Amino acid sequence: MTEKAISTTEQFESEQNIFQHGQGNSFLSVPASDNVLPEPRLAHTATNGKIYCGDSLQLLKNQKIVPPGSVNLIMTSPPFGLVRQKEYGNVDADEYVEWFRPFAQAFYNSLADNGSLVIDIGGAWIPGQPTRSLYHYELLIMLCREYKFHLAQEFYWWNPSKLPSPAEWVTVRRIRVKDAVNCIWWLSKTPWPKASNTRVLQPYSDSMQELLQNGYKAKLRPSGHDISTKFSYDNGASIPPNILAIPNTESNSAYLRYCSEHNLKAHPARFPALLPEYFMRMLTDSDDLVIDPFAGSCVTGEVAERLSRRWVCAELREDYVESALSRFAEDVRVATSNGSAEKYYKLARPGLLWNGVDGEPLPQDGGKKRQFKPKVVNTPSAHSEAETKHTYTDEPISHEIAAIRHKSMKSEVETQYQDYLW
Ligand SMILES: C[S@@+](CC[C@H](N)C(=O)[O-])C[C@H]1O[C@@H](n2cnc3c(N)ncnc32)[C@H](O)[C@@H]1O
Repeated sequence: MTEKAISTTEQFESEQNIFQHGQGNSFLSVPASDNVLPEPRLAHTATNGKIYCGDSLQLLKNQKIVPPGSVNLIMTSPPFGLVRQKEYGNVDADEYVEWFRPFAQAFYNSLADNGSLVIDIGGAWIPGQPTRSLYHYELLIMLCREYKFHLAQEFYWWNPSKLPSPAEWVTVRRIRVKDAVNCIWWLSKTPWPKASNTRVLQPYSDSMQELLQNGYKAKLRPSGHDISTKFSYDNGASIPPNILAIPNTESNSAYLRYCSEHNLKAHPARFPALLPEYFMRMLTDSDDLVIDPFAGSCVTGEVAERLSRRWVCAELREDYVESALSRFAEDVRVATSNGSAEKYYKLARPGLLWNGVDGEPLPQDGGKKRQFKPKVVNTPSAHSEAETKHTYTDEPISHEIAAIRHKSMKSEVETQYQDYLW
């Protein structure tokens, strides 16, 4: 596979000549980058797309590769402004918006009028304190106010398998909850990007199917909404909400196996294939052009290839590109998987474990001082005491207590969840 990739690279080396670094371009008013990043070189050509290794900003300025107004979808997950620096060199949260500016302009110029820019962006914590950075909201506001993007819709990607983090605030001091969603900004150049939710429909829930079978009595809801009988038409599937439940638990994919077998570096922050697939299906037609300027392991390219979209991916780091090439090797091409066979994820309604008892008073200092609490003793009476008083400790809970909580929550969820299915 590597051999094939190298020969393909050589074969297309001449194509690099069409890339003229810093060429004058009146249409693309992209400010020159201060950093001297490597010029993109063509690393691989697949049936429908190409991977370039190097700086995507320079690539986007090349009108021969990315003609202005030609891109139907920019689907990307830029380096996040994370507190803990990732190995590929994240920009600090404060500088993030400034760093993004030239990309914003280049994205705008390259998009078709009815094209979309979809940015998956994780939140960040302020170093040393349990509060959040606003950088991803600042980015959104900048893109809309200064670069005239429209916020077509915001989505939230919920990773149901996310571990509790940051540990200090979530599992040690217990003063914050799990940070398990990424924001996804769906932006467009005009208020009318091409899109159809009919491409991303979901099966009806059991309660909706029951309702369709038994009929729905039109009535005025307590909210004042007049629910007409139209809601009982069977359209074959339901319109999804703007929250996407996708676990990021890939552990045995062809990509990872290839990396491990060939001693190649796997990208440490891949998004699940279902994410770009969702937006590609909803926002593009076959043969449309999709670009991922921060391609990492080229998940976007792999999905676009499978869905017969034309695509261009750019990734700065050679080692990520080298392992990404495995996604396009004939011998490992399989449908992408997100490492989970789950069809549905249920979100518990808040309150399922509330029993009218507040438990311990809240820490008056907001958890500033770490508290050390006594351990729960592992006996049945201690379990029930622990359950009723909610005297949770910092230690992981025992299997028995977990089972009690799970059982009471499960039965309540099963009886009450139905109200919230649609
Ligand atoms: C969050 S990762 C993307 C991961 C990708 N979505 C995946 O699933 O594999 C962001 C990537 O952007 C790359 N990057 C940062 N600046 C870049 C630039 N100027 N040009 C091209 N790639 C860049 C980083 O090296 C990193 O691999």
